[in-house]
Amino acid sequence: MQRAVRCAPSVHNTRPWSLEVHGHRAVLSRRTDQQLDRHDITGRDQLISCGAALTNLELAVREIGWAATAEPGDSPEVIGVIRGDDRAEPTDLERARYAAIARRTSDRRPFAPQPLTEEVRAHLRDAAGVPPVHAQWVHGQQKALLLARSLHFAARAYHDDREYQRELAMWTVAPGMTGDLGLRHEALGARGVPAVGLVTSTTHLPDESRLASWIAAESVLVLSAPGDRHRAAVRTGQAMQTAWLDATSAGLAASVMTQPLHLPEVAHALRRQLELSGEPMVIMRFGHPAEPEDPPD
Ligand SMILES: Cc1cc2nc3c(=O)[nH]c(=O)nc-3n(C[C@H](O)[C@H](O)[C@H](O)COP(=O)(O)O)c2cc1C
Repeated sequence: MQRAVRCAPSVHNTRPWSLEVHGHRAVLSRRTDQQLDRHDITGRDQLISCGAALTNLELAVREIGWAATAEPGDSPEVIGVIRGDDRAEPTDLERARYAAIARRTSDRRPFAPQPLTEEVRAHLRDAAGVPPVHAQWVHGQQKALLLARSLHFAARAYHDDREYQRELAMWTVAPGMTGDLGLRHEALGARGVPAVGLVTSTTHLPDESRLASWIAAESVLVLSAPGDRHRAAVRTGQAMQTAWLDATSAGLAASVMTQPLHLPEVAHALRRQLELSGEPMVIMRFGHPAEPEDPPD
């Protein structure tokens, strides 16, 4: 269970949770000792991360043959309590999701040009669109251009924000350094859509029209949920992780971004322009993984 929870994605790889297991009861709590004051002012991304960890925990309990029963926590710091009182074999889908936990990773490279089939897109949208979370693909050139404009605007703002960049640098693990927490520098996206998904002070920003054509060529899914409430954020994390695990099982690559959505003007514009039913919480991109690049001669 600890291993499965550790593998969950988290904002800046902060792993903002703790897990305690007492008998048949596993309690996942939020840790608040590693706040990201510049990136995640409201703590929403940390709650989304905890939601992803909760999904992994449930799958781990199912994998060892218990019917996972969820109980509400008794304090705001408790994200979820999973009880395993009765034996029950996991389903094939749960097994496949559990097996994907250790293989899931953020792939911030540009994807191979081959598009996803409509069947796969429908599956991923349904996996992520579990109420109160709504999942919507970014369809067509026009919507891609609107999203590109917002991402570009946010990228410029973060690029020039020195306090923001100081915090991001503190959470970035330089090449050759080891560390359990934090973003590995070499895993950050330098090209394509991910280049505007986590902007550092040295990121080369693409122009809006190139960005729009990259977005239109990828499968970009926007997860929205009602308001900035605690429960909606946790549920978003669960939905995000379920779709990410299903994509991994299917041999697909994915990465997520929330950085642009923390600017209120960007969140507001996207909600209106993409006709979202709630607050945009996470942008996910899916595709076929690119072939590994040859090392330079
Ligand atoms: C709530 C949340 C927000 C994230 N925001 C971003 C983001 O804005 N940009 C980005 O490139 N990655 C983002 N990530 C991905 C994390 O950086 C990544 O999960 C973490 O570094 C661990 O790496 P892994 O996913 O390869 O295991 C986010 C992940 C989560 C769960």
